[in-house]
Amino acid sequence: MMKAIGLNHSFESAVADIVDNSLDAGARKVLIRFIRDSASLRSICIVDDGHGMDDKTIDRAMTVGGDRNYDEDDLGHFGIGLKAASLGQARKLTVVSRAANQPAVGRRWLIDAASKGFECDVVGSGFATSLLDRDWRHLTPSSGTIVLWTEVKSFAAIADAKALDRFIDSYLTKLRHHLGLVYHRLLAAKKVEIAVDVEDVAAGEVGLPFSVDPIDPFGYIRSCRGDYPKVLRSTWRDRPIELNCCIWPGRSNHANFKLSGEKAEPFQGFFIYRNGRLLQRGSWNGAVLPERELQLARVAIDIDDTQSALFTMNAEKTRVEASSEFGAVVQSATDGKTTFLQYLDHARSAYRDSQKRKRERPKVRRPGKGFAEAVRSAIDDEYEFLPGEALDVRWVDLGDDTFFELDREDSLIRLNRRYRSAIIGGRDSSLNDAPLVKALIYLLAEESFHGAFLGAKRKDNLAMWQSILTAAARAESK
Ligand SMILES: Nc1ncnc2c1ncn2[C@@H]1O[C@H](COP(=O)(O)OP(=O)(O)OP(=O)(O)O)[C@@H](O)[C@H]1O
Ligand SMILES: [Mg+2]
Repeated sequence: MMKAIGLNHSFESAVADIVDNSLDAGARKVLIRFIRDSASLRSICIVDDGHGMDDKTIDRAMTVGGDRNYDEDDLGHFGIGLKAASLGQARKLTVVSRAANQPAVGRRWLIDAASKGFECDVVGSGFATSLLDRDWRHLTPSSGTIVLWTEVKSFAAIADAKALDRFIDSYLTKLRHHLGLVYHRLLAAKKVEIAVDVEDVAAGEVGLPFSVDPIDPFGYIRSCRGDYPKVLRSTWRDRPIELNCCIWPGRSNHANFKLSGEKAEPFQGFFIYRNGRLLQRGSWNGAVLPERELQLARVAIDIDDTQSALFTMNAEKTRVEASSEFGAVVQSATDGKTTFLQYLDHARSAYRDSQKRKRERPKVRRPGKGFAEAVRSAIDDEYEFLPGEALDVRWVDLGDDTFFELDREDSLIRLNRRYRSAIIGGRDSSLNDAPLVKALIYLLAEESFHGAFLGAKRKDNLAMWQSILTAAARAESK
């Protein structure tokens, strides 16, 4: 059993299982550090500044299925996460920990020893203390816990430094994405800060930390339909259940929509949360058949342990199994006007409309440098793009007081730098500043970048806009 547990975890879901424990221990900061030498990965450390463990607690922590009393807002549930997640990924698991005003303690499991008997090693207090007192930069675990994985299985066969670089990069990216999604509510609410970094012991260097940023699967700029999101209510055994029904804008390229994939279609359906942590990213749980036309439909549900006869999570906490009663719960959900089935129809027709409307619109030049990501993504949601160079926008000294200048040859909209500080107000200037003004000028001027010449009508329009906008810009900077 010890060899089998944890094998269903991916690397990133295994790390999340460890981070769950840190959150349950009240950690405000968590660091995941990859420790490498020139050509191999030595270990992975997950460090937290939670309340830590004493000698007795750490023994229970290392016990498979070790029981404790859970608070209702705890993420832990089964009593196996730490062992299963770790030994699925690494052949050696070391845990060191320190509770307030207690000596540091440590334990170690070796997968080979563990599969012969339930004995784990005691790690000396000196070693535990020195590990906790290392300079972790992102946090100082005066009380806290470090989970250390050595002999990480997926890194075992790497032959050279270049391959290791690529491997670490791709693991970091996947990990930040996964944690950003799973904990997006907790990260956005600033309940915890998570960072990831790489230490090269051969070079004696620690790289810059990357923060884990929230990825909100419901984070669209505006819904396809003004009347959404809607909360549809239902009951299960006289207890209320809320379905928070959303419809994404069609054809979005937003990372919040596509999540880790190329397409958003697999991420339709129920997003199930427990204590603010995302368990399931889409799936209709058998209540509805997935279909292409439902890809804009996402429904958030918050569950708790009083509903354990309706929802069971898998041991990896990546999926939720719904019981056969769930279909009826979903079918009867309503807000008094809209039923769940009508919601599905609204999502389908929103999808069909978005396909149609977007195709019927004239194609535009892709917005390039100088536009804020949110602006680029919103334009991308609405239009199809012409082939060819992107259209950039840049602040430049124009020599006179005109507001803008179009450079058709370089695909560039120049804005007069003398108005910049007036327009961005007190904020810092940056490449992608002034998103609103830039979006407006894009909408106005983009068409002038089509075709080989500017006709008389378009030239006249440009002259008119120039005089009005220049007057407005002068007034803005008074
Ligand atoms: N980082 C940590 N800080 C403090 N205590 C910890 C930490 N990690 C684990 N523990 C203790 O070890 C116990 C066992 O952890 P484990 O992840 O194996 O099970 P669990 O969290 O109780 O349940 P689940 O299997 O659902 O994760 C926890 O209940 C907690 O008491
Ligand atoms: Mg756990």
